[in-house]
Order: sequence, then structure tokens, then C-alpha cells
Amino acid sequence: MIYSVSINGVLTDPKQASVSIFDHGFLFGDSVYEVVRTIHGRIFAFEPHIDRLFSSAQQIGLEIPWSREDLRKDVVALLKHSQLEEEAYVRLILTRGVGELNIDPSSCRAPQIILIAKALPRLPASAYTDGIVLSLVNTKRNSKHATNPGIKSGNYLNNVLALMEARKNKALEAVMLNENGFITECTTSNVFLVKDSKILTPSLECGLLAGVTRKLVLSRARAEGLTVEEGFFKPEDLVAVDEAFITSTTRDVVPVSRIDDRSLGVVPGPVTKRVAALYQDEVKKHLDKDCPLPHLAEKTQ
Ligand code: PDD
Repeated sequence: MIYSVSINGVLTDPKQASVSIFDHGFLFGDSVYEVVRTIHGRIFAFEPHIDRLFSSAQQIGLEIPWSREDLRKDVVALLKHSQLEEEAYVRLILTRGVGELNIDPSSCRAPQIILIAKALPRLPASAYTDGIVLSLVNTKRNSKHATNPGIKSGNYLNNVLALMEARKNKALEAVMLNENGFITECTTSNVFLVKDSKILTPSLECGLLAGVTRKLVLSRARAEGLTVEEGFFKPEDLVAVDEAFITSTTRDVVPVSRIDDRSLGVVPGPVTKRVAALYQDEVKKHLDKDCPLPHLAEKTQ
């Protein structure tokens, strides 16, 4: 994999790119991050992602010493430098910075912003035609009263454990419950269920990341008159569903063919198919408003 990196706005050879072992992001997972992508030479939905980065930082009491515009410029510069012609994945990582070897963040004077770009990793095309397998795992999503899952923090260990469990169960993604037994989300995606043509997804109250894709899917589905419910769902609800799908920035809308032992019917089901098409239309509408990246402008016209 070819990577491009910038650290605090300075383009850096990925082989030389490093952070201090005293950065609290490394020591304690004291960091926040975002993942954005490009589509047809444009950075897709940069604003909501950057808003979420600022919100995550604010919720861990970390002041970002860069403006939204600074960050956009840095991402554009990195993408230009990367020479990537295909769609790109860009990770923005904001760490607490270098401090003393104890958890107290007050010794950390300067946050670091690290940007990493690579070609967008894609699921095989069969995932979209045949669906993927989910597993309901024992590892619980963090309580929203602990490290709130609404914060996209650099501490994903809980999700790492959940994914390991899913992989043991031969599933691509893990469905996690909260401590009260309600379904929350997957390790790096949001989850949706369909029952009697109604689209169901866990309420943000359950403790989960407010996905950018989730929000676009929900608002467009509502605008089209589809019935949508953000609610509280238990594992027994999974038994009765007709369809399921997951959403994320890097994967869009992906149908689910099986949840552990329970195979779903037609995949993708009619509602999932409709939602996936509506989402693609929504993406197109957004892209029409966005400027192409200057270095790709000619190619995308
Ligand atoms: N993951 N839930 C979790 C826990 C996530 O990490 C993500 C995103 C999502 C989907 O959010 P969005 O639609 O804004 O991408 C839900 C990113 C893609 C990642 O970590 O790679």
C-alpha cells in the first residue's frame, strides 16, 4: 500500500513519518480522528466530518489550533502530493500531543494533526450483490457514560475486540449491544434493519457514533416517504427482520445476507436496494455542489 502523510501541515515521507513515544495519543489513546474519502475527484461531505472532528475534540477538552479551512487546505495539499488518481481514503488524526509519562493531559502543550492518505480500500463487488455476514458479539459497545461512542476517539480497543470475535465467527462485521442489551452499531459502521418495509436503526441514545452516512440515509429515506424509526432494538428483533444493511463513509450501503445462523431472504432486499440507490443519488447531489480538487479538475470535467 502506498501512503502519503502530512504532520502538522508538513508533507512527510511516510517511511520517516513518526510520532513521539511521549505523545498521549500513542500512550493513552488520547486522540480523536475522522475518515473522509474522495469521490470523482472531490472530497465527499468534508463539512460534516470536520464538524464531527471538532465536536469529538471539544468533548475530550482538546482545543484544535487549526481552522476548518486550514485542515481542508492540508487535505487538498496531501491529495495533490499523493498523485492518487483513483478514489482516496484520508484519515485525520488529532492527538493530545507530547507530554509527561502520566495520564494528566495538562503537560501536553501542542496537539498534533496527522493526515494519512491512501487509495480507498474497497469491499469486493460481491459484498454489494450477495451481502455480508454479521455476528452479534459478546463484547459490548462502550457505555455512553464512559468514553462516549459519539466521540470518534482514537481508542478503538473495544471495537478491535468485537471485530476479533466477529472474525472468529466468520463474519465481516460485529453487531454490538450496549450494557442494557440494546443494539448499538458495528465496529466501524452503523447498522440498519428492515421489518415490514420499515427501516429501523438504533437511536443515538443507545450510545453510538452519529455516522455521516447514517444521517444522509435517514434524511433522504424520510424525504422519500419511507417509514423510518430510530429506536431501541434487542437481539430478539434481529430474528424477525426481513433485511439488514450497514453504512459507512468508506463502504456506502452494504446489504447483509446473514446474521450468525440466520440467513436473510432476498439479498439485497427491495428496501436495501432502494436505500442504496437513494444514497448514491444523494452523493451525486452533494458532489455537484463541491469543487473538484484543483489538481484533478481537468480529469473530472
Ligand atoms: N468508521 N460507527 C463507527 C464506530 C465508526 O467508526 C464509523 C466510521 C461509523 C460510520 O460513520 P460514517 O458514516 O460517518 O463513516 C459508525 C470509519 C469509516 C473508519 O473508522 O474507518
